[in-house]
Amino acid sequence: MAKVVGVGLLGLGTVGSGVVEIIQRHQEELQHKVGCAVEVKRVLVRDLEKIRSVQIEEGILTENVEDVLSDPNIDVIVEVMGGIEDTKKVLIDALNQKKHVVTANKDLMALYGSELLQTAAANQCDLFYEASVAGGIPILKGLSDGLSADRITKMMGIVNGTTNYILTKMSQEGSSYHDVLEQAQKLGFAESDPTADVEGLDAARKMAILATLGFSAQVKLNDVSVTGITNVSDADLYYGKQLGYTMKLIGLAQRDENRIEVSVQPTLLPNEHPLSAVNNEFNAVYVYGEAVGETMFYGPGAGSLPTATAAMSDLVQVIRNMRLGVNGKQLQGPLHDCVLKGEKEIESQYFIRLKALDRTGTFSTITSLFAEHEVSFEKLLQLPLEKEEAAEVIIVTHQTNKENYERLLNRLAELSVVQSLESSYRVEGGH
Ligand code: NAP
Ligand code: HSE
Repeated sequence: MAKVVGVGLLGLGTVGSGVVEIIQRHQEELQHKVGCAVEVKRVLVRDLEKIRSVQIEEGILTENVEDVLSDPNIDVIVEVMGGIEDTKKVLIDALNQKKHVVTANKDLMALYGSELLQTAAANQCDLFYEASVAGGIPILKGLSDGLSADRITKMMGIVNGTTNYILTKMSQEGSSYHDVLEQAQKLGFAESDPTADVEGLDAARKMAILATLGFSAQVKLNDVSVTGITNVSDADLYYGKQLGYTMKLIGLAQRDENRIEVSVQPTLLPNEHPLSAVNNEFNAVYVYGEAVGETMFYGPGAGSLPTATAAMSDLVQVIRNMRLGVNGKQLQGPLHDCVLKGEKEIESQYFIRLKALDRTGTFSTITSLFAEHEVSFEKLLQLPLEKEEAAEVIIVTHQTNKENYERLLNRLAELSVVQSLESSYRVEGGH
């Protein structure tokens, strides 16, 4: 085993700077853990002139990826630059040149994880991606090591720091959506294009990765049904609170036998639910295993040092494997086919907010329609609207299946006593 393990870093932004900082600051601990020095040999950036938050020796930065890939002193590539198609080519090149890979790139892993893992195995290289899901929380290792002997049936979590930050600030401080999104960008939580955060795609990518690993089934990004937070209004947060709920962007993956449901959507949780207390950029994933029961993984879900910590734990694993000569031996094909649940099999409670005419008979018309669809109320709130002949009506249903609920919603919208259907959300974590 070499006295020095050489690292090629692709990207020196939020996460890349964190990786350099940890390697510089924790060198002694690292050496103790892996038995050799860890040195950053080359760093790929887009712009050599940019001012950096970490000190890098002269001659290490490059704008040419070949300088990194062809450097014989580089054993491990740490990819923290983002991107999909071009980055995939770079990583396949790196693996074919027998360099191990650590990546934080969920966009890439959700789409091409299986292909990349196979390329890594064919080259007897490691490919680890802990930092791609839930920032600093060791959730992938939790599933693949800690809970490896269990059968996981449900994972429910807050896996996007940006949207959790936005919902927390809107709900607790009354801040405006756009102001908080800007703050999340400044703090380095949001993606360079935050559309993927706020529209739920970032969380969907993470849920596809989590479900693939947790259920040992190839769950594709297209298998995840996705709704983001862009339509969540102050009124929804307010009325949710009135009824004892907290709004979170929830990723849900559950299976009955081998039929799977994976989704991301704004969801109301009872205030006393543990995920309701997960605030700001923090993430948490609730994992239910048949043997272990309930577990919860909690921690910072985004940001420089937390995410870099996850990437560094992968780097340590790669170096330990190098010492043992067991790199590239971890690939296992999925055990199950991914068969998605039909809408009839997806059960949930729902929150509905609508505006209805404030006159006699309105309620009996609405309740008759619910009875016709065999959906019962758990909670009901009606408030007259000032200066309007309408009332705001908020209903929380008992459990019903998605197909039935969608049918009910369509019929509700057609009722002459209903002026507008304002919003509808899933409610999870109840009895
Ligand atoms: P970032 O701050 O935008 O940094 C990206 C870095 O990569 C920059 O240094 C940039 O160079 C470099 N880069 C990008 N494209 C390049 C290209 N084509 N050629 C050469 N260099 C290129 O991004 P980040 O927030 O660190 O995120 C990096 C990755 O980690 C992404 O996949 C992201 O999804 C993932 N991730 C981020 C977080 C987080 O909290 N930020 C958490 C988990 C995972 P310049 O500096 O010269 O522009
Ligand atoms: N943009 C992502 C988030 C970064 O906000 O969670 C961490 O993956």
